[in-house]
This record gives sequence, C-alpha cells and structure tokens, in this order.
Amino acid sequence: MEVVIRPTTQSAVNLTAQLIADALRAKPDMVLGLATGRTMEAVYARLAEMYRKENLDFSLARSFNLDEYIGLGPENKNSYRYYMNTQLFDHINIDKRNTHLPDGLAEDVEAEGPRYEAEIDGAGGIDIQLLGIGRDGHIGFNEPLSSLSSRTRAKSLTPETYEQNAPLFDKPEDMPMRAFTMGVGTILDARRLILLATGAEKADILAQAVEGPVTSMISSTALQLHPNAIVIVDEEAGAKLTGRKYYDWIFAHEPKWAAYQNI
Ligand code: GLP
Repeated sequence: MEVVIRPTTQSAVNLTAQLIADALRAKPDMVLGLATGRTMEAVYARLAEMYRKENLDFSLARSFNLDEYIGLGPENKNSYRYYMNTQLFDHINIDKRNTHLPDGLAEDVEAEGPRYEAEIDGAGGIDIQLLGIGRDGHIGFNEPLSSLSSRTRAKSLTPETYEQNAPLFDKPEDMPMRAFTMGVGTILDARRLILLATGAEKADILAQAVEGPVTSMISSTALQLHPNAIVIVDEEAGAKLTGRKYYDWIFAHEPKWAAYQNI
C-alpha cells in the first residue's frame, strides 16, 4: 500500500482524477470501478472538466459501481444510478450502456449478486477501483463483520451508516436499510485500488484502515492485502497517521510520482 498526503482537499481530488485519466489514456476501454458519496463529487467534477478541456475520452470506457440501495430505481433521486448520471455520466461522453450498477429493483435479491459478478467477469475484471471510506470504515457497503472474501450481495446497513447517509435523502426515513454491494473479495480482485478520504471526520478511521490490524470489523483494512493499493488523503484526513514521514518521503523521491508533485 502507498499513502499520499496532499496539502489541500482539491489537490487530493486532482491527484485521484489524474491517476484515473492517465490510466484511461493508456487503455481507452478500461474498466473503471466507481464509488459514490460526497467525497467523490469533486473527483467527478474534475473528470468532467478534463473531458471538456483536455479531451479526456470516455467513449470506450466501461464502469461498474460498488453498490446500490435495495428498493430504489434509476429515477429515484437518492439512488446511486441517479447520482452517477447527474454527477458524472451526463457530463462526459461515456456510453451509458457501458455503465453498470447493481439493480436496486432486482426481483430476485439472492440472484442479483452473482448476476453482477458475472457482468464484471464478462468485462474482463476491474482495472481501477475507486473507493471512499464510510465513518465505520466500510468500503462499498461492507459493514463490520463482512467477510474479507465476500462477493456481491445484499447487506444490512449499520445505524451509523444510516445516520451518515440519511441526511442526503429528501425524507431521511426513506433511506433503505439494505443495499447491494460488491464484496470485499470482489473489490480485492480489481487490478488497482485508489481510496480517497478527505476531511477531519475521516482521520481516526483512516488511520485504523491504513495502519491498524487487518480485521473484518473494518473492511477498508483489507486494502492492506492488495498488491497495488493507493490511499490519497488531504491534511485533515491524514492527521492521525503515524508513518507520515515515510509516506511523504516516498512521494517526494519515487520517480513514478515525479510528474504528480504539483497537481
Ligand atoms: C457510502 C458509500 C461508500 C462511501 C461512503 C462515504 O456509504 N456506500 O462507498 O465511501 O458513503 O461517503 P462520503 O464520501 O459522503 O463520506
């Protein structure tokens, strides 16, 4: 795992978007794993800007989102399909037929996970999986005790996640209590992971995710098991990391980071 601490939220966001853009330019039909949440809104705004101003071409790209609320359809403003359309897909030249989320309205809840996994396999697997982190340390909606080898499935959300996400709903009580989510094992199958965390409220859980013991109680600790994981944070979210000197030293000296110093 590598950790990159950037001085501002915007530079952390820009670095995340730049890594995605560089990968897309190298492989125009790449398979992107996408995430939702407030943190990602700025990343998607930056990618849309790169499409408009820097000819970043998404026409051949394919995407799979981490998760979707059970019971919410694409027209529902609180569904993650709606979020993805309005935050990103409507602003770039991706072919929406190549964008995938679990189907929140799937009639057969048990079958939806395996169906989604087969779609990911059919696309050749995920090249880069973008991740945020929940207040309880979840990635996707892999709440505490999610098996580190779990696959896409329905998951009940914790009261803490409910508290975190319900304010985003017009009526907080409308937030579903269950969601489909890629499993931790599904996420670990992606060829590269990029986790972005910003803001002081993520500092404690981020330090546990990166420097704490691997545990199914905090699904983001599974990133430590992945051979190609990058964690990008701003000053606030990185404030509780103890290994900072080493992380900064690598970012300043490793040749592969040379081009990213002033983003
Ligand atoms: C939801 C999503 C997660 C995301 C988290 C963080 O719970 N399922 O994938 O990481 O929100 O959201 P925010 O960026 O709003 O803190």
